[in-house]
Order: sequence, then structure tokens, then C-alpha cells
Amino acid sequence: MSSSRSLRSAAKALVAATLAAAGPCDIYAADGAPCVAAHSTTRALYNSFNSALYQLTRNSDGATTDIFPLTTGGVANAAAHDSFCNGATCLFSIIYDQSGRGNHLTRAPPGGAASGPNPGGYDDIAAPLGAPVTLNGNKAYGVFVSPGTGYRNNEASGTATGDEPQGMYAVIDGTHYNDGCCFDYGNAETSSHDTGNGHMEAISFGNIDVWGSGSGDGPWIMADLENGLFTGENVKYNGNDPTITDRFVTAVVKGEPSHWAIRGGNATSGDLSTFYDGVRPDANGYNPMSKEGAIILGIGGDNSIGAQGTFYEGVMTSGYPSDSADDLVQANVVAAGYAIGALSTGDKPSVGSSVTVRATTPGYTNRFLAHNGSVVNTQILTSSSSSADRAAGTWIVRSGLANDQCFSFESSDTPGSFIRHSGFKLLLNANDGSKLFHEDATFCTQPGLNGQGSSVRSWSYPARYFRHYYNVGYAASQGGPNDFDNAASYANDVSWIVSNSF
Ligand code: AHR
Ligand code: AHR
Repeated sequence: MSSSRSLRSAAKALVAATLAAAGPCDIYAADGAPCVAAHSTTRALYNSFNSALYQLTRNSDGATTDIFPLTTGGVANAAAHDSFCNGATCLFSIIYDQSGRGNHLTRAPPGGAASGPNPGGYDDIAAPLGAPVTLNGNKAYGVFVSPGTGYRNNEASGTATGDEPQGMYAVIDGTHYNDGCCFDYGNAETSSHDTGNGHMEAISFGNIDVWGSGSGDGPWIMADLENGLFTGENVKYNGNDPTITDRFVTAVVKGEPSHWAIRGGNATSGDLSTFYDGVRPDANGYNPMSKEGAIILGIGGDNSIGAQGTFYEGVMTSGYPSDSADDLVQANVVAAGYAIGALSTGDKPSVGSSVTVRATTPGYTNRFLAHNGSVVNTQILTSSSSSADRAAGTWIVRSGLANDQCFSFESSDTPGSFIRHSGFKLLLNANDGSKLFHEDATFCTQPGLNGQGSSVRSWSYPARYFRHYYNVGYAASQGGPNDFDNAASYANDVSWIVSNSF
């Protein structure tokens, strides 16, 4: 080998090694398409980033705190997070922008399609406990978006506008999705209203197929370009856009004048594949684009709030990144070592056992979670109650119908019927086999918020827990918008002694 050639290959190896050690935004910067927004609740996306990743709000007292990486460029400090949230519920109130541009994400305001459930029509914000993960063994939390949850920044700076080029990637949960509109991350309208074709360019994930679709039943990685989720050139079917089944998914959407692409892969191994790379849709408005540069997470451009999904990290660039830069980012994501964390903690009930669930609120400790027809409530029960009354307050623990890290509670006197939430009331309903029922009937356990027994959290709405309120059962959040979310007595009302006796 000539000395200049060996020097060149050494230099190449050095660049590759440096980039492999770099964060995703270091890689895109070296590619000439720097991040103008970088969001992650799990880790730093620049090698040198050591500022706050996110802000938590604690619902018991409204206190806030910022969570930083454990080390510069590293994973979030989950120990600081857990100690701040101990005995209370917490929400991600700010997802900070790591790019230095201040493009932070906060609770989304109401939009043209929908108002959120909170005062002023604001959307919900996410409960970290819904998306525990580990990164190379270090605990962290992702952003679990239930329907109604959304983040937005309508005053972002530096993001693509008009037909300017941009790239985006996001790491998401390929098993958490639905057919609602729209679980998006990326560029959207600054008005929260649908202002027409081509006014958005965001990554979208789900199995909504009213616009585009890919092969199989979904979910698919798509692009929300406004008034359409696209899988390819035109809004309809692209058989090269596959159904995704991986637990952790890297999704890429990028666009430049007259051209755009969708790429994706397993975020824990292997390379990205290209699912579309070609011309812009030919329907009016998509070429040239009219991007507005706001940033959304978990919602559609007009604040459509029907979708669900989980976001761990993502960026938006200025400039169209090369495929090889995306590929290095994918290698970096794989090296981050995403794995699932524990959804249920504390004393877990054994699957197959029959349990009783007793209130711990002072003055109500003789009451057990029970049902009267389809209404789930609390009833005063003792070992000498009638066998019918005791059966109404006895639950058979099943593996969670939607997630086997969690649990479902089957009625002992009505086999095939389970506790589920609907409109955030707890009901006893027959399992209809649907995805929605399974999700509504899946609950995860954790140590009781008041220090006694267990608290039992909805899998699909992880800010919401089994609560008794005027002796009726709800899936209630701490200080949320409904009367049964009343913050007074919350920690006691959501803490239960799970045992096998009355
Ligand atoms: O493009 C799909 C959706 O259509 C957008 O997110 C929303 O703004 C509109 O309802
Ligand atoms: O309980 C909240 C939601 O209400 C459930 O997910 C759904 O079944 C109903 O619309």
C-alpha cells in the first residue's frame, strides 16, 4: 500500500470512528445538514451536550425540575427523575431542544381540528412511567403519547420553511400505535390549523389508512405532508413501505425541492432501508412545498389528537442529509442500546391468582374494588359477606391483554369480563377481542403512591390510576380536568392493598 493511500484509509477510519463516537447531531453537522431541533428524554444527541434534557412537573404540588444527562453526551439521570417523582405522578412539561436554538416542545394549544381536554383547550402531556427503557443498561424514560397528548412549538426558529430542504429521524415504539390521526414528529403549521397541502412535512407512524398505506396491515412509517399521510409518490398504496413490527424503530423522512424519501429500520440492530425515494406527490400544493416550520410531536398539523405512539428521540435538520449520514445515525442509535424497561414494579400480583383490592384512604379501608353490573365501585365487604357479594369483589389476575408486563383483572363472577376504562370510568365489560378493549383493560402496578400497597396504572393512559371517588371507580389523573381527577386525597385514593382475603 502506498503511504498516501494508507494515510487516506487511516484518515477515513478516523472519521468513521469519530463519527461512531459522535451523537446524531454531530453526524448531521459533519454532513452539512445540522440539527436545528433535537429532542430526547432519553439521552444527549450531541457529544458535548450537558444541559437539561427535559423538565418534569410533579402533580402533587406543581413543582418542576430539570433532568440532565448523567455525563456529558450521555443518558438521562433517571435516579434524579425517580427521586423527584417519588410518591407522586409526574409529567414531561418541557422537552428541551438540544440544538441551542431554543426550539423546546411544550403542551400543545388547541387547533383547527380539536381542542385538548385541559383548560384553554390545551392537550395532555406525557407520563414518563408509560415508556421506561434502558440504554446500554441505564434506565431512562420515553414520551408515551396517549390520544389527547401533544407537544408543539409554533415559534421555532431555523427550521425549514417554504420548499427548503430538511431531514428528520425519530426513534419510536413500533408496537404502540393506532389508526387515529396523527402520531407525528416534525414540521407543521405555525397556526395549529390546516392551511393546505404541503404546509407540513413530518414523520408519521400508525395504521391509519384513509390516505396512504404500505404493505400488510400496518403500522407504517409515513410522511404527513398535510391533508395526507404519504407512503410514496401519491397518497395511496406503496408496497415497498412495509408493516413495522420492531419494538424500537428508527424512522426517517426527508425532503428537498421536487424530491423526498422515507427510510426506516430496527433501532436496535442492522441498517436502514429505503422505502421511498423519489418525486413529490403531483397533487396540487406538494411541489413546491409550503412548510411553515413549527414543530409537533404526537398530533396532526391541525392538532388532531386521536393518535397514540411513543417517541424516544428525534431531530430536524436544516439541509437534506445524505443517506450515508442517516446510516451513521442509525449506527449511533443501535450503539445507544435501547431495550425495554420495567412497566410494572413493586409487589406484582401473580397471574392466575384471585385477589381482593382494598382501599387505603382513611375512613374507607373497609371498602374493596368490586362491581355492580358494569359499574366498578368500592363496596364494604368482609369475610362474612355473602358469597355473591364476595365474588363481586374478587378478581382473577390475568397477563395484560395488551402488554404482558402488565395485568388485566377478570371478574370472578362474570368470566370473560374485565375491568376496563371508558371515558376514564372503570367499567366491567366483556372482552370483545378488539385492540382498544385489550388496551383499555391493561394495567401496570407500582408501589402505592401513599407508601401502602400498590397503585394500578392504565397502560394506555399512564397518567391515570385506579381511583375511588365517592366510592365509584375511575382511571384518574392527579389534578386532571375531570372532577374525579381532584388532587385532594389523590395519593390515598389510588393506593390499594392487593391480597387474597377480605
Ligand atoms: O395530513 C393528515 C392530517 O390532516 C394532518 O396532520 C392534519 O392537519 C389534517 O387533519
Ligand atoms: O377511557 C378513555 C377512553 O374512552 C378509552 O380508551 C376508550 O375506550 C373510550 O373512548
